[in-house]
Amino acid sequence: MVGKDPLSDVLWADFQKMDLREKARYLNHDGRPFHVLLAQQFDRHMLDELGTLATRIRRTAKSKSGMRFLAELLDHKRAMLTFSQPSTRTFLSFYAACQILGLKIAEVRDTSTSSEMKGESPEDSVRTFSSYFDLLIMRTPKSGFTEKTAYALSNTERPVPIINAGSGKDQHPTQALLDIYTLQRSFERVGGIEGKNIVFVGDLGRGRTVRSLAYLLTHYPGVKQYFVAPRKLQIGQDILDQLDQSGMQYEVCEDFAQVLPEADAIYMTRIQDEWDTEPGESQRIDTSQYHFKAEHLRQIRIHTAIMHPLPRREEIESAVDHDPRAVYWRQVRNGMWIRAALIATIFGREGEIRHYYDMNLE
Ligand code: NCD
Repeated sequence: MVGKDPLSDVLWADFQKMDLREKARYLNHDGRPFHVLLAQQFDRHMLDELGTLATRIRRTAKSKSGMRFLAELLDHKRAMLTFSQPSTRTFLSFYAACQILGLKIAEVRDTSTSSEMKGESPEDSVRTFSSYFDLLIMRTPKSGFTEKTAYALSNTERPVPIINAGSGKDQHPTQALLDIYTLQRSFERVGGIEGKNIVFVGDLGRGRTVRSLAYLLTHYPGVKQYFVAPRKLQIGQDILDQLDQSGMQYEVCEDFAQVLPEADAIYMTRIQDEWDTEPGESQRIDTSQYHFKAEHLRQIRIHTAIMHPLPRREEIESAVDHDPRAVYWRQVRNGMWIRAALIATIFGREGEIRHYYDMNLE
């Protein structure tokens, strides 16, 4: 890191009171992400750069010599994956991204085998981990915990960056990055993301991927967002306020079939019943009309991207998988490349990748 860590220059009490955009300014160092906690810390330029870098990495990785070059970039660094909430795909995606760049990896997935069982606070556990590693990648059910950890880590003699791999119901910034990368690629030949209609469907109130992506889409002029869900699962007012502040168009509605013909992307989500506050709460909500069925394929446009952060339940019929407009498996692969691009950027390696790419692949 060059210069002083901005998070070591502010009181925790003051930081906590800031709105997300203000907080975001303390997480980037010289325009480059250091701690990656919030969608709000990415501007349009960063999104474009990350997408370009991800594509350079994926093309470089096609040859053995390219793979060898990538795997030497960060082979002197170690990453710790600490996931105290179920995850396989995000975990493996980060794992693979670290491997591509040569980082050595350790993991803690089951906190019942850690010293937290002896009464150690999660904050102390994380601080201990950070002594052995150069990067922490963390998934946690507790909203705000990654912020607290980042603050603690920035106020040690050895600040270590932390990446939020999903925190509570509030944010999942790297999923939003991979979703943007997927949209960039899907709309490459139809004028980019600008001006497109993006339809979110399902559990929008408790789905953190939608919350992060809705914000990133504010960087694309002319985008209109549709939030289609039963009333009880609708998107939070805080997200709509952000869209209002950015002057974005949106529609909140309950009728899925009606918006289908207008959609350029349809982002399906599952019901997040792990957050139910009483048993059977989600089951009592009728979500049957919020499923994408094979018959809907006839009603959507020829370029419409059908997306899903996965895991899926019944909200997309498996018969849809074979349609070229179903991009959810591509999202998974894009996730690995964009996470590799993000980690390379945190450690300032994007220039070397560009240079190698220009010399060997252009
Ligand atoms: C999402 C999550 O964990 O928020 N999954 C993921 O990261 N791929 C979505 C979900 O669990 O429904």
